[in-house]
Amino acid sequence: DLSPAQINGILAHSYALKRQSLPWLEPKGRRSRSDKLRLPPQSLFNKTIALLFSKRSTRTRLAAETSSVLLGGRALFLGREDIQLGVNESARDTARVMGGMTQGIFARVGEHEEIEELAKYSPVPVLNALSSYWHPTQILADLLTLHEHSHLFGTRMPQAPTGQLPSLPPLTVAYVGDSANVLHDMLVTFPRLGHKLQVASPEKYRAPAAVWDRVVELECDKGITWTADPKEAVHKADVVVTDTWISMGQEAEKEERLKAFEGYQVTEKLCKEGGANPNWQFLHCLPRKAQEVDDEVFFGPRSLVYPEADNRKWTIMALFDLLFGRWDLSAEGVDR
Ligand code: CP
Ligand code: NVA
Repeated sequence: DLSPAQINGILAHSYALKRQSLPWLEPKGRRSRSDKLRLPPQSLFNKTIALLFSKRSTRTRLAAETSSVLLGGRALFLGREDIQLGVNESARDTARVMGGMTQGIFARVGEHEEIEELAKYSPVPVLNALSSYWHPTQILADLLTLHEHSHLFGTRMPQAPTGQLPSLPPLTVAYVGDSANVLHDMLVTFPRLGHKLQVASPEKYRAPAAVWDRVVELECDKGITWTADPKEAVHKADVVVTDTWISMGQEAEKEERLKAFEGYQVTEKLCKEGGANPNWQFLHCLPRKAQEVDDEVFFGPRSLVYPEADNRKWTIMALFDLLFGRWDLSAEGVDR
C-alpha cells in the first residue's frame, strides 16, 4: 500500500534508528562517549500493541516485541490458542475490541482476506505480519540490507553523507523457487524502486490472479520476467533470493512440492552456469530448509541472511514508531 517515497522514507528512518540505537556502528572517530544502547523516540510510551499471530514466528515476533520495548511501549502476544478469534469470535468483533484497548494491531494470519477483514473493522492501524499473499515487512528488511551492502554491487553511486542511508544502484534480482508471500511483495515493490526481477518457478506455482492484478495495477509487470529455468533467472543477477518451498499451512503438499521444485536449489554451480554477476549476494527470509539452498551458499561469504534477519527489527521499529506511535505514514510524516 506504500508509495516509493514512503518506502524510501521508512528505510531511511530504519537506518537512522539503527545507528542511533547502536552507536558503535558509527565509523571510528564518530563513536559516542558511551557505547551503551541509546533509546529511540519514545513514541509508544504508555501505548500497547496487539500482536495477533495465528502462525508461528521467530523473527517477526522478536522484532515486534523488542522494538515495542525500545519505543517505550508494550506488545501483547496473542497466539491462536490464547484468544477467542476463530473459535468463539469473528474477526470483526475481535478487531473492534482489540482496537478499543490498543494503539495498533500487527497481525499474522492464514488467508489474506482475514487481515482485510481486521483492517476494515479496526479503529486502529493494522499492519500485515504475513498473510497467504503478502509479507510486506520482510521486503523492507531485505531492502535495508541491500542498501547497507550497496558497496558490493560495483556501480559507483554518489556517496550518502555519513550517517545517512547508502544509495542503492538499480539491481537485477533473481528469485528462484516458490511464488509465495515473500516474492509477491518483491513483485509489487522492486520494479517501482528501479530494480529488475527475474523469477524462476514451475508453471503451476506462479503468483495467484489477485496478486498479479495488483502487480499490473502498480505497473510493475514490465520490470518482471518469468521462466521455468533457474539458470535463465540468475543470468546477470546481482542478488539471488529464495524462500521455503513449503510455506506454513502447505505441509500436506510436501511430497508434491519437493518433486515439483527439483532442480531449483540455489547453489554456486547453478549461479555459475547461469552466469550470475560474479559478486552475487544471497538473501533468504528464514526459516530455511536445505532443499531450497545448500549450505555452501547459505553459510558462505555471499550470504546476507543474518544481517537481513537483524534488520527485521529496525524496519519493524520504524513502522511501529510511524504507524502505531504517530499514526502517520504519509510521505511527509515519514520525512519528518
Ligand atoms: N522471516 C520471517 O518472517 O520469520 P518468522 O516466521 O520467524 O517471523
Ligand atoms: N513463505 C514463508 C515465509 C516465512 C517467513 C511462509 O509463509 O511460511
